[in-house]
Amino acid sequence: MFEIKAKDSRGRVGVLKTNHGNIKTPALMPVIHPRKQVIDVKKYGADIVITNAYLIYKDEDLKEEAIQKGLHELINFDGPIMTDSGSFQLSVYGDVDITNKEVIEFQELIKTDIGTSLDIPTAPYVDREKAENDLKITIERSKEAIEYKNENNFQMKLNSVVQGSTFLDLRAKCGDELASLDSDLYPIGAVVPLMESYNYGDLVDVVMTSVNHLPDSKARHLMGAGHPMVFALAVAMGCDLFDSAAYILYAEDDRFLTTRGTYKLENLNEMPCSCEVCMNYTPDDLRDMEKDKRRDLIAQHNLFASFAEIKLIRQAIYEGSLMELVEERCRVHPNLLDACRKLGVYSKDLEQYDPRVKKSAFFYTGSESLNRPEIKRHLDKLRDLDKKRDLVILPSSKKPYSKYIGGKLGEFYIYGSEMELDLDNTDFMVLDIPFGLIPVDLDDVYPLGQNESPKIEDFDSLNFVEDIMSEFVEYYSQTLIHSKIIKKFDVGLYNIHSDSDKIRFKKDDIRKIKSIADYQFGPESGEALFTGDISLEKSKKTGKIRHIYSDGKLIANMRAADSFFVLSTEGAKRLHNSSESPKNRVIVNKDSEPFTKEGKSVFSKFVVNCDKNIRSNDEVLLVNEDDELLAYGKSLLSYNEIMDFKIGQAIKNRKGIK
Ligand code: GUN
Ligand code: ZN
Repeated sequence: MFEIKAKDSRGRVGVLKTNHGNIKTPALMPVIHPRKQVIDVKKYGADIVITNAYLIYKDEDLKEEAIQKGLHELINFDGPIMTDSGSFQLSVYGDVDITNKEVIEFQELIKTDIGTSLDIPTAPYVDREKAENDLKITIERSKEAIEYKNENNFQMKLNSVVQGSTFLDLRAKCGDELASLDSDLYPIGAVVPLMESYNYGDLVDVVMTSVNHLPDSKARHLMGAGHPMVFALAVAMGCDLFDSAAYILYAEDDRFLTTRGTYKLENLNEMPCSCEVCMNYTPDDLRDMEKDKRRDLIAQHNLFASFAEIKLIRQAIYEGSLMELVEERCRVHPNLLDACRKLGVYSKDLEQYDPRVKKSAFFYTGSESLNRPEIKRHLDKLRDLDKKRDLVILPSSKKPYSKYIGGKLGEFYIYGSEMELDLDNTDFMVLDIPFGLIPVDLDDVYPLGQNESPKIEDFDSLNFVEDIMSEFVEYYSQTLIHSKIIKKFDVGLYNIHSDSDKIRFKKDDIRKIKSIADYQFGPESGEALFTGDISLEKSKKTGKIRHIYSDGKLIANMRAADSFFVLSTEGAKRLHNSSESPKNRVIVNKDSEPFTKEGKSVFSKFVVNCDKNIRSNDEVLLVNEDDELLAYGKSLLSYNEIMDFKIGQAIKNRKGIK
């Protein structure tokens, strides 16, 4: 029912399939009031809406009409409709007069596309006993709903709502149990109070924990999130759907939603955007207007602002700049900045989903960027690589560094016991913000060459790179640190190396391609790929390496934009021969073997296992269960997703091997 089309951070552009058509996610579902609705939300960009089945059920006339005509005619919307169950009324009024089974049956009867069981929205910060007791009921009702739906062959899809208040272990447990039910969609519930009270740091804990325990192959809905200010953050955490009553509730109260926060009409000197309403009316016009007309106009602005943000987020995912957008959005309120900082704690989780290569460069927008998964991933890779005896640390320069490092480099200070220089047994790295240490041979590999940070440095990032330097000097016998770096960090415990003036960085294409291969495919891959008589073909225009041959046979092409390798058949064979399964591999089942060999793309359902380190945009080997090489290709998803999805493509096949 759900497929991923593009990814960034933990966010995804997806397609949600329903009985009333497919919709693109992230999507915003405006809340439709079954009786009072005046605004045609479709006109403002709504492809899917949500309404409340309980409110319809409670109103004899509406109920009758809904049963006779169906929900779509009742609310006059021909796209997909989701219904909520009355749980929200339960949380406000303490009880509802409908049972779980009754509300499930009723939703099917009125032909909703996506129904919801009667979960208990347990507020944040309640005592543990209450949270546990409520959760037990929520999970039981989800189970009951799924069984009831299956027994009766219901057509609608079903939501199972994650609860557990602010107890993260309960959110985790709930996620696990609901995941095992194989529901169609997974809303995350009872987060409205966290958003209303601006407790965004706790919101991140609740959402990240819930999402970590939900399947990747199902759409997730952040229930009651209707303020465009939080959409980017929520999408980066893996939420696909939002619902907004905010557009009308805020309008009732003369408040404008914007990504910078909320504006009250009484304080407005200028209209807050350039939508139709903001272009055609002044704040005074609105203030002088009768209430109903004013409310509808502000609601239209609110819808416009909300859908504009959803579109911007999808665009950011396509181009790989979602985290830049999140960091920007989170600067509008200190409590949102808390959320952004809290998200840094979950860097390891985000890393498992973040594509390896993106269209956009990495922008350092402030110290929060230091916790981004790209940096963590790079440093972990660097720790894993084979190391030479000595390390030379150079100050940063313009990129690509190798172009600007030549001749006499200046004075170097020594850390470790002074040994004779052996430049062939030395790693050369540049100390830079925000990636810490960058091997000069990798200076144009994504994102080490494709990142920007301000020239004026801040303390956090200086401390960060200093810590990395302190860590890495311990991995080497001696480290030679450039005097510019010593001065910057004001460390006085080092002596000038006696042979300082002999330190030179020698460019070496063979060493460079081997380093890139090790970085891309793992240690020793470079040796395995580039044996024999190596020749290189470079771009006449840029001088960059384009093709690499061994004994006249093409081994790999180097992609100009990110300097990663795309293997040839011979390259794939060499990589395969040199490593053990499942390294760099996606293992497909017997059924798909002939198709894979023919060069057909691989669907997730055919994958038996794969390397846990695979991320989207990685170059991978396609093998059968006996580890015979069938083809090679580019992964569209990361490990967790490949293993979880039952529909859709996982690997784009570059070439089958017959
Ligand atoms: N709307 C806002 N929050 C919730 C929730 O926790 N559960 C349900 N069913 N609807 C909601
Ligand atoms: Zn506007």
